[in-house]
Amino acid sequence: MKKKIYVTRSAEETMRLAEKLAHSLKAGDCLALMGELGSGKTTFVKGLAYGLGFKKKDYVSSPTFVILKTYPARIPIYHFDVYRLSTLDEFQGIGLEEFIGSQGICVIEWADKLEGLLPPDHMRVEFSTAGSGDRLRKIVVHHLSKRRGKRKSP
Ligand SMILES: Nc1ncnc2c1ncn2[C@@H]1O[C@H](COP(=O)(O)OP(=O)(O)O)[C@@H](O)[C@H]1O
Ligand SMILES: [Mg+2]
Repeated sequence: MKKKIYVTRSAEETMRLAEKLAHSLKAGDCLALMGELGSGKTTFVKGLAYGLGFKKKDYVSSPTFVILKTYPARIPIYHFDVYRLSTLDEFQGIGLEEFIGSQGICVIEWADKLEGLLPPDHMRVEFSTAGSGDRLRKIVVHHLSKRRGKRKSP
């Protein structure tokens, strides 16, 4: 697994990073976002959606109460936030498996809660702050070496 570490200094920079990353995504991909409240997960999803052609940044927000929001980007984006869920029953109740590997891209905030339910080939993105009030964010992207559909033919 290839790991890349980025440091951003503003929300705009985080969005730009996600926008660039968006170009390498394809239908069926699953991104697992991890990191504390305010670390930039939703900001990252705004940039991701923008990069995939969904330009209404204000419409992208944490689906904390509805669990899932769908954005009709070039490839549909299924944006989950599982912060409020706590039991295995609740996790299984969101029907994640219907969306994973579908014709859309799944992006899940607080995905560390779903460990075990995530597909083995998910792309993990970890966010951390450098201290309260600071605009510095460390973003670690774990690229999988074997991505679906990108394996060399024998
Ligand atoms: N470098 C940065 N990257 C992302 N967000 C930043 C950055 N610096 C400041 N911010 C601010 O931090 C907050 C991040 O919030 P949000 O993206 O909703 O986090 P989360 O979804 O992880 O709770 C926003 O208010 C954003 O403007
Ligand atoms: Mg959020």
